[in-house]
Amino acid sequence: MSENRIVGSNIISEEEKNEYSLRPRWLNEYIGQEKVKEKLKIFTKAAKQRNDSLDHVLLQGPPGLGKTTLSHIIANELGVNIKITSGPAITRAGDLASILTNLEANDVLFIDEIHRLNKSVEEVLYSAMEDFALDIIVGKGPAAQSLRIDLERFTLIGATTKAGMLSSPLRDRFGVLLELDLYGEEDLSHIVTRSADILEVAIDPEAALEIGRRSRGTPRIANRLLKRVRDYAQIKGDGNIDINLAKDALEFLDVDDKGLDQLDKKIVQIIAENFSGGPVGLDTIAAATGNESITIEEVYEPYLLQIGFLNRTPRGRVLSKKAYDHYGLDYKKDN
Ligand SMILES: Nc1ncnc2c1ncn2[C@@H]1O[C@H](COP(=O)(O)OP(=O)(O)OP(=O)(O)O)[C@@H](O)[C@H]1O
Ligand SMILES: [Mg+2]
Repeated sequence: MSENRIVGSNIISEEEKNEYSLRPRWLNEYIGQEKVKEKLKIFTKAAKQRNDSLDHVLLQGPPGLGKTTLSHIIANELGVNIKITSGPAITRAGDLASILTNLEANDVLFIDEIHRLNKSVEEVLYSAMEDFALDIIVGKGPAAQSLRIDLERFTLIGATTKAGMLSSPLRDRFGVLLELDLYGEEDLSHIVTRSADILEVAIDPEAALEIGRRSRGTPRIANRLLKRVRDYAQIKGDGNIDINLAKDALEFLDVDDKGLDQLDKKIVQIIAENFSGGPVGLDTIAAATGNESITIEEVYEPYLLQIGFLNRTPRGRVLSKKAYDHYGLDYKKDN
């Protein structure tokens, strides 16, 4: 994922190349997230009509929901160039300055993981976003001089898994705040069907729905499952994906009928058995399962919340009866 992206290089992993071909390029190809699309349709059209830059956009949501995809789409709809970088990749203020001064009028600058920008870089961004200008200090000590460089108007698109991790001066400078939700199974089955079409794999609607249902509300997972099921169909079947083959393949892949994997199971079991169902803090869950809190919080928890296995309370996470039932665990009412 974004972790090992190297900005400005042409090293692209196989996974990313694949992801690229499956990526919708226009709003009308982008499935689901209707409210987000409706807003973007209007805002991009209006900005284009005025021949102006679109206001800065903050995209937030769990990994794999389509933030990178949307930023490309926004640039396409606006008919402008897009430059892509990420928070951790911009280490010095000078790096950001050189990116910004190279933008053409109304271009999009996409900063992935924008919550990971360092403070000195973030401060340069403030005046760039607000005044389309850079304030740079040249020289040191008493001879230091402040220099103002004007920039072209541009659109910053920031992506983050959690808006709460952004400082408020940064968050306040975005004019468009968009939150992506986990996808429903219908939307995911459309995504699977669309991807199968591009990959030239024959799939039954029922099988597409089955894969969609087990994709944890996440298009990236839907595409990944589809590719593994395709492999299975190619070796164990005749290449076509029908409902029976899909079910066999998904079982073979250790994905259960709700899309839960071994770590989900471990999380539920540990809360049930070691913490009598909760409430228990996120860090404790992470330590007990041998994972990083951030992985649990960003990758596992959103889906467990969505399917109602976990509830958030002020005192911590609490397991629901549904979760006990799913894994055949003994539920005691006084939990
Ligand atoms: N609405 C959608 N319709 C069709 N395909 C989608 C949609 N959203 C995402 N995808 C597919 O899911 C994959 C992941 O999307 P993307 O890389 O944009 O996610 P992301 O939110 O940027 O994730 P991360 O936070 O991990 O970088 C893409 O390959 C894209 O093909
Ligand atoms: Mg991304």
